[in-house]
Amino acid sequence: MRDGVFLNLNLLNLLLLFLYLHGSLCSPLDYQQGSVLIEKKGNAFLPDISPTGTPQPFLPLLAPSPLTPFTNNTEPKLSGLCTLNFSASESMMSMAATDCWAFFAPFLANVICCPQLEATLVVLMGQSSKVTGVLSLNATHAKHCLSDVEQILSGQGANENLQKICSIHPSNLTEASCPVKDVKEFESTVDSSKLLAACKKVDPVTECCSQICQDAISDAARKIALKDYGLSSMDGTHVLPEHSTKIDDCKSIVIRWLGSRLDILLANKVLRGLSNCKVNKVCPLVFPDMRNVTKDCWKGISNETACCSAMESYVSHLQKQSFITNLQALDCAALLGKKLRKANVTKNVYSLCHITLKDFSVQESGCLLPSLPSDATFDKSSGISFLCDLNDNIAAPWSSTSQLSASSCNKTIKLPALPAATSAQIGHYNEDLMFPLLFASFLVLMMLL
Ligand SMILES: *[C@@H]1O[C@H](CO)[C@@H](O)[C@H](O)[C@H]1NC(C)=O
Ligand SMILES: *[C@@H]1O[C@H](CO)[C@@H](O)[C@H](O)[C@H]1NC(C)=O
Ligand SMILES: *[C@@H]1O[C@H](CO)[C@@H](O)[C@H](O)[C@H]1NC(C)=O
Ligand SMILES: *[C@@H]1O[C@H](CO)[C@@H](O)[C@H](O)[C@H]1NC(C)=O
Ligand SMILES: *[C@@H]1O[C@H](CO)[C@@H](O)[C@H](O)[C@H]1NC(C)=O
Ligand SMILES: *[C@@H]1O[C@H](CO)[C@@H](O)[C@H](O)[C@H]1NC(C)=O
Ligand SMILES: *[C@@H]1O[C@H](CO)[C@@H](O)[C@H](O)[C@H]1NC(C)=O
Ligand SMILES: *[C@@H]1O[C@H](CO)[C@@H](O)[C@H](O)[C@H]1NC(C)=O
Repeated sequence: MRDGVFLNLNLLNLLLLFLYLHGSLCSPLDYQQGSVLIEKKGNAFLPDISPTGTPQPFLPLLAPSPLTPFTNNTEPKLSGLCTLNFSASESMMSMAATDCWAFFAPFLANVICCPQLEATLVVLMGQSSKVTGVLSLNATHAKHCLSDVEQILSGQGANENLQKICSIHPSNLTEASCPVKDVKEFESTVDSSKLLAACKKVDPVTECCSQICQDAISDAARKIALKDYGLSSMDGTHVLPEHSTKIDDCKSIVIRWLGSRLDILLANKVLRGLSNCKVNKVCPLVFPDMRNVTKDCWKGISNETACCSAMESYVSHLQKQSFITNLQALDCAALLGKKLRKANVTKNVYSLCHITLKDFSVQESGCLLPSLPSDATFDKSSGISFLCDLNDNIAAPWSSTSQLSASSCNKTIKLPALPAATSAQIGHYNEDLMFPLLFASFLVLMMLL
């Protein structure tokens, strides 16, 4: 059983982390960054990390209480041209607003914010189809609706650039190239009771391996995509490229139909469970140029200090990008290892330089997100919280675990065990850290005055 911590971030800490991540604080903190990384790997920069003592870190958190964020909610300016019924999916929207909270959204985008936003849009369209009979919006409506959703969410504290952060375009709300969008036509083409049975109880632990619902969605999408070709019974192996785009577009239609048939909270859970399978399979980090590392770590490694210092510096670039899940960290370690070996770095530099899994996630808080879907929560006194797996100092595996997605489904392969929390990790500050912290607090106060 893994232990979990809630990462609690109040406004000040959020600002600090924001400033820190954007490197906009001047030298004391920049200087500190290098030494923290080398000397005090994994120490907590943020003072509010505390153990919850709950043995169930994987339970998705409950929906936040009605949002009364630090900022005064602004009245959203709606287009008046969107037919979606926002009040029907209020709970999902408010969860999306928390998950995508302000300047934290980019760092939670891949795992928490965008999956919740996408699920929300699916359910909004699904619910609306019960009235309109159509599982898509036309281009004009799509544009207004997406902008309205963004307005409503940012009025509740969400980031104002969600379309950009999550790469959602109005075209994502249309039927795109899928030939079927009417609910009636859909239901007369696919075996809808079979589809519903396969998807109404997605188990987020087993679905990614068993693919029961995912296979049912693919089957249904293929049926409606190839309806006009009389090929509905054809198996997937002979599908032409133009058909495969169609099938992908039709998957959206199928998912929206599910969003119309399931109770809203259940739909939310199912959709997050499905997107989670995709999330964990891919390392979302962008790997910068590796020349610095390969120069110093090439072949026999003549100077280990130089090699590790290049490695630390390289990893510190990764650490500014995003919070990632523990499985994604494995993906990222495998991917970077593969790139390094390709560049003739043959020695296990992870072990040599003590690179751990959580070194791939946003640092100073030492947080890897759980591999199962989770949400941020908002609380007036403690601010935004989200769940972290406390898996400090698991060595990054150097061996080629490239078949990770397959191997995580293979029960005979054990993923690295995650040790329990030790008291040393909690609320234990390096005195050196206090200075930049106070200094930065001072700066923030100055900015607020
Ligand atoms: C929030 O806005 C409402 C209405 O605009 C206003 O009455 C209220 O005083 C504001 N609250 C704060 C804390 O600014
Ligand atoms: C929107 O949804 C709410 C809650 O489900 C419902 O009470 C209301 O009648 C709906 N409005 C329209 C216009 O369908
Ligand atoms: C989009 O659909 C709405 C009705 O759902 C219709 O009033 C409007 O004319 C359509 N716009 C276009 C460009 O087709
Ligand atoms: C939206 O559609 C574009 C292609 O039109 C695609 O690249 C992108 O991934 C889609 N976004 C989402 C969130 O599905
Ligand atoms: C190894 O590299 C470090 C830092 O680049 C340097 O200070 C040190 O002198 C080097 N050691 C040797 C033996 O070259
Ligand atoms: C490579 O090293 C140079 C000079 O030390 C540094 O400015 C640059 O940021 C490094 N790049 C990466 C990706 O580590
Ligand atoms: C790796 O080493 C081999 C043999 O020494 C060499 O041919 C190859 O060009 C090197 N690759 C890189 C990326 O440096
Ligand atoms: C699971 O992993 C074990 C050990 O690596 C291997 O022998 C076995 O073939 C794998 N099973 C599947 C279904 O991949």
